[in-house]
Amino acid sequence: MLSQIYTPTPYRPAPVLPQLNRAPENGRFPHTLEEQIGNTPLLRLDRTAVIAGLHTSVALYAKAEWFNPGGSVKDRPALNIIRTAERQGLLRPGMTILDATSGNTGIAYAMLGAARGYRVKLVLPDNVTPERKAILRAYGAELIFTDPLEGADGAIREAHRIKASDPNVYHADQYNNPANWMAHYLTTANEIWRQTNGAITHFIAGMGTSGTFMGNARRLRELNPAIRFISVQPDSPMNGLEGLKHMPTAIVPGIYDETLADENIWVRTEDAYAMARQLAQTEGLFVGVSAAAAVATAVRYAQNLRHAVIVTVMPDNGFKYLSESFWNEQK
Ligand SMILES: Cc1ncc(COP(=O)(O)O)c(C=O)c1O
Repeated sequence: MLSQIYTPTPYRPAPVLPQLNRAPENGRFPHTLEEQIGNTPLLRLDRTAVIAGLHTSVALYAKAEWFNPGGSVKDRPALNIIRTAERQGLLRPGMTILDATSGNTGIAYAMLGAARGYRVKLVLPDNVTPERKAILRAYGAELIFTDPLEGADGAIREAHRIKASDPNVYHADQYNNPANWMAHYLTTANEIWRQTNGAITHFIAGMGTSGTFMGNARRLRELNPAIRFISVQPDSPMNGLEGLKHMPTAIVPGIYDETLADENIWVRTEDAYAMARQLAQTEGLFVGVSAAAAVATAVRYAQNLRHAVIVTVMPDNGFKYLSESFWNEQK
């Protein structure tokens, strides 16, 4: 019986534990929700199945962005957008944060809005995964759904319509807001530089709003102009790569500057799905499809390289995509 083997110990206060992956800043450990954003681990991908064909002088690293408290890379821009708008007096107590988002930025706004006392109104295509809708509702966000056939662009148009009719909303507009890419310029890029001891030679990332790519490319190029920047896009407008945009057929984000990329590589949905399985089953990394698309592209790109340190970004993990059929089709 449990009572015979379980001897309760007298109450002692829990010790204050250092947090994993979080270095002390200014001599103290960060304790607030917002302080947990950023400083994500840079993981080396080294399992043979994943890096098959790569020369031994090539190293592949990936930023594990699901370590952010909202579970994705988008905590960074959402926080910077909110702080910048507050500083500029555009977002004031009592106002509602509004944006069009396919999910992760919405989750970040909903989390930060809840913690800061703002209402959050999000416009999103009705076909986003049930997990995402449930998470957004859990944080108390108001959801407005648009026609799935219109994709992310339909949600963007609806957000503009709502903004025009309601003066009490702050339209965060992640697609046109420089505070989006600045978040990466100020944080992600400098972390990558530190975590590779300045040895990075190639940066490869997918693009949705393009904030991740723009901010990292601008800052890392300042730190070392020899670094090559490779953007990743789905190879067709109809694809299964949630979070990524096919720029030739999409409303092009205002913050996007195509001249920042040295090259663009088109990725097939099937290749991303195959890499998602491989990462889960051989690296123990259960990542989202856009992360898998970025890694699949990085591995393909790296085949002919020598003496390279490649860094890519894994925007989120796989939990929000569990209802998608490809995970359930496996033997
Ligand atoms: C899962 C996922 N991957 C990739 C991206 C693209 O990041 P960015 O908007 O910085 O280009 C997003 C953005 O929403 C995302 O949610």
